[in-house]
Amino acid sequence: MCGIVAYIGKREAYPILIKGLQRLEYRGYDSAGVAMLNAKGDLNVYKRKGKVTDLIEFAKDEDKSGNIGIGHTRWATHGEPNDVNSHPHYSQSKNIVMIHNGIIENYASIKEGLKKRGHTFLSQTDTEVLVHLIEQIKEHEGMKLGHAVIAALNQVIGAYSIVVMDKNDPDTLIAAKKGSPMVIGIGADDFFIASDASPIIEYTKNVVYLEDEQVAIIRRGKELKIRNLKDKEVTHYVQELTLELESIEKGGYDHFMLKEIYEQPKSVRDSMRGRLNTTSGLITVGGIVDHEKKFEKAKRIIFVACGTSWHAGLVGEYLFEELARIPVEVEYASEFRYRNPIIYQDDIVIAISQSGETADTLAAIELAKSKGATVLGVCNVVGSSIARATHGGSYTHAGPEIGVASTKAFTAQVTVLTLMALHIAKVRGTLTESRYHQLLYEMETIPSKIEEVLKLNDQIKEIAYAHKDTNNALYLGRGVSFPVALEGALKLKEISYIHAEGYPAAEMKHGPIALIDEAMPVFVIATKGANYEKVVSNIQEVKARKGKIIAVVTAGDKEVKEMADISIEIPETDELLVPLISVIPWQLLSYHSAVMRGCNVDQPRNLAKSVTVE
Ligand code: F6R
Repeated sequence: MCGIVAYIGKREAYPILIKGLQRLEYRGYDSAGVAMLNAKGDLNVYKRKGKVTDLIEFAKDEDKSGNIGIGHTRWATHGEPNDVNSHPHYSQSKNIVMIHNGIIENYASIKEGLKKRGHTFLSQTDTEVLVHLIEQIKEHEGMKLGHAVIAALNQVIGAYSIVVMDKNDPDTLIAAKKGSPMVIGIGADDFFIASDASPIIEYTKNVVYLEDEQVAIIRRGKELKIRNLKDKEVTHYVQELTLELESIEKGGYDHFMLKEIYEQPKSVRDSMRGRLNTTSGLITVGGIVDHEKKFEKAKRIIFVACGTSWHAGLVGEYLFEELARIPVEVEYASEFRYRNPIIYQDDIVIAISQSGETADTLAAIELAKSKGATVLGVCNVVGSSIARATHGGSYTHAGPEIGVASTKAFTAQVTVLTLMALHIAKVRGTLTESRYHQLLYEMETIPSKIEEVLKLNDQIKEIAYAHKDTNNALYLGRGVSFPVALEGALKLKEISYIHAEGYPAAEMKHGPIALIDEAMPVFVIATKGANYEKVVSNIQEVKARKGKIIAVVTAGDKEVKEMADISIEIPETDELLVPLISVIPWQLLSYHSAVMRGCNVDQPRNLAKSVTVE
């Protein structure tokens, strides 16, 4: 949440900051701002409610010179999104400016103390309090900026990644992190600092990922120095980025979301690459190999995740229980962390996260670790906080996902969970050889089946057009298709702002059926499998009440096709693998509905891609 970017070196800072903010806008887009220190020593701050484009327009005739600067794109936590609450924030004297991602929990008491010392505050933010505190310590204790930042951070409770710039020290930037991500790019004679590597990639591949409670002292023309909160220097490691520039650009698509939907044949293939070998009959999921013994004896697996990743966990529950015969619980990380849950040392907790930065999921991991459980991660972003906080795990290798609505991350997560479940089933001997091989072969066909579903785009666009003005929608599914119903409903509501509910089809008669009338579209997954006849009955219940059925069916289906108002035919696959292809029509449907309703698809209101606050 919130994107931060900073530059110090020989180039003009402003274009680097603006480009960086546009890359980071997926993290929040309530307001944007920059601060630059020019050669004359003027500290110019420009900030504006709205998107980065509003900032560009606002600052177009201003002095934006300088080769040191900081920039921020905000997702509001403290204080409504307006010009004043936008970052950067000034210290009391206006000599120091700061950008911040995270939440300072004890800001109110610090603010009271500072007010007593004569500080006045312009905004409602916790950030302004922290930059005032830094200046107070610097002036009062006669400290250098870096030491003052360390002293101030020792007083705060909460999460942060910050960059601080001082008018009186024009060759230095101070960056610090706890809980929120921060990457430092090391150029030939300059430094780039950002919330993720996307603003850095075109300038350098050499990066340092700052660890929690580390403070970077970044001086023009000098070596990077990193200190901890005890003010001791610590060694840092320079890593090489594997990210490619093309993967973070739209590549001819109108929106990142559409590009990412269309990338799924490739991203699912990439998730399986080097892991699935039908010739040898082997599945190798590196991250769990070291924990095989634990899985062999495991009495329980707990998935912790949020949002779409939680839906992937629900699919994982069906897979692990059915194939590996291990009981599974799927927990919202935000509930789990505060519920005093019972966790045993032989539990295996698997955290699922695209960003690898979700604050609630991270907190759930720490809780599970403190109780002695083995904690594994299924993450997309390499080197992310969750990937580093877990005992092991597997990357999904879906590539950067920039559209706020998660699409290819979901199918990649389900792919990895399927491979894990199959591998563990083999280790535990819970699956016959023939069923194991059958599923392996079927997995290999999934990318080409996704390609087939994507060819239905025009049909789905028409369905979106026919339903774009609806106020409500119901999504139904049974068994492993129930999480896909939840995911379909989430996609529709988050980007097109149509109220939608996902339900297990049979639960409908316990309440939601009261909503059915001729105006209510009901989106159902009715593919062939053990629950098929049951779903057919549920469809009849809807039809009897004049509800409108839009069904995803297996190619060649006759029964549902006759009953449904509209059918979307997808290729046949094993019942357990259906979510990997049946989710695609719902992704496309929500995309087209949002575009037709004039919504901002990649940056839906009030949302952010990476939820680093609880
Ligand atoms: C929905 C969506 C969110 C995320 C959730 C978890 O499209 O993107 O619901 O799935 O915020 O995020 P990660 O997976 O990054 O932990």
